[in-house]
Amino acid sequence: MNAYSFFKYFHSGFRYFVIIVVLLAIISAFAGWFGKKQYTEANRKTNLIAMILFHTQLLIGLVLYFLSPFVVFAKTTMKDPMARYWTVEHITMMIFAIVLVTIGHAKSKRITLPVGKHRTIAIFYSLAFLVVVVAIIQSHRPFFGITQ
Ligand code: HEM
Repeated sequence: MNAYSFFKYFHSGFRYFVIIVVLLAIISAFAGWFGKKQYTEANRKTNLIAMILFHTQLLIGLVLYFLSPFVVFAKTTMKDPMARYWTVEHITMMIFAIVLVTIGHAKSKRITLPVGKHRTIAIFYSLAFLVVVVAIIQSHRPFFGITQ
């Protein structure tokens, strides 16, 4: 196994941690928001871990970006849908999702009322999740599964 395959499998598999924890954070945030619940230590940790996982995925993605044969810097890149997706679209959409999570986390930390904290996480993390789902669909790779 070379460095490219290693990082590809790592990045591909790591998405499940990102998706599972962000979904958990989103569900707890909606439950807290509409159920007018306290903002617990468990909520704080889930939201923080979700953000850390997003940032870790960004770091693995950045390494992969310079190893992947699908990332091409050429005149023809923008005309080739596959090269354009991996060189421009994937990184742009995913970084946008990571920024949303980071802003949501920071905003929620500054708010004092539990309902406001939950609402901020619910909105920002859901938007980020949506961007990730759209980006994966656009890749034309299966939502589940690892490309060999
Ligand atoms: C939450 C953030 C991200 C998620 C959920 C995600 C998810 C994925 C998925 C599902 C694949 C396909 C893997 C496969 O086919 O087995 C992939 C591939 C890839 N991602 Fe990401 N990604 C994220 C962020 C990033 C970022 C920020 C970058 C660049 C800095 C990046 C660069 C790449 C590259 C270069 C590939 C490789 C394609 C290949 O050579 O097959 N990803 N990513």
